[in-house]
Amino acid sequence: MCSAPTIKENMAPSQVVEGGPRHVAIIMDGNGRWATMRGRPRLFGHRAGAKRVREIVEACPDFGVEYLTIFAFSTENWKRTQVEVAGLMSLFRRYISKETRSLNAFGARVRFIGDRVRLDDKLIKLMGELEDATASNTRVHLTIALNYGGRDEVARATQRLAHDVASGKLDPNCVDEETLPKYLDTYVLPDPDLVIRTSGEARISNFLLWQSAYAEYEFIDTLWPDFTKAEFGNLCAAYGVRDRRFGAVKT
Ligand code: IPE
Ligand code: IPE
Ligand code: MG
Repeated sequence: MCSAPTIKENMAPSQVVEGGPRHVAIIMDGNGRWATMRGRPRLFGHRAGAKRVREIVEACPDFGVEYLTIFAFSTENWKRTQVEVAGLMSLFRRYISKETRSLNAFGARVRFIGDRVRLDDKLIKLMGELEDATASNTRVHLTIALNYGGRDEVARATQRLAHDVASGKLDPNCVDEETLPKYLDTYVLPDPDLVIRTSGEARISNFLLWQSAYAEYEFIDTLWPDFTKAEFGNLCAAYGVRDRRFGAVKT
């Protein structure tokens, strides 16, 4: 008999709006260019980008979106200058401290995905506190990908899975498409239905590789600091008329 570790957290009851995406994932790109266009340092753009997040989180229930996953910092973003990386880390710390109250008041349940090991202790602590403070909320599930890379996630998952095999907890013959995602950081989340990337780049930059196998994609020119609730709503509506076939032929 095959058995894999059980999912520990309860999923929220479904409030899916007919035809809309239940889970939207966003690659929030274009902060740097937005700042450069204004003759300002890149961190000015990151601050403007962080300010956009609240409106989009709060718009989710209006469009029937139960899960929102946002890409804040990739495992590859460490390649940027020390000034930009340090500025981003400081922004994340300030964002969490400042937004905890409003996220909680709104009823957002916040989770982080990615490898925390490389982050500083203060940030790790704040992330844990935000997750704990919002743990009983169900209005919208906000997942923040911070030091996240899809390949890194699959590698870390495989390592944990290999430990379970080595210790006899998992039969290697039972490892299948259902088993592996239980070891991913996203194990409690449904797969994204719609992935949006702002800023005109048509690539996924190592975001949710396993989970987005059948997602619909929208690559839009808007730079993230200019992204609005109205545009978000239009993309959710456009998703509603797409024909997702998952490899089958409609009869
Ligand atoms: C996205 O904006 C935010 C992060 C990657 C942290 P960028 O900083 O990549 O902005 P561009 O792509 O340089 O304009
Ligand atoms: C992807 O944007 C990562 C985030 C939005 C956090 P990047 O700007 O890092 O991606 P590339 O370098 O253009 O592929
Ligand atoms: Mg970019």
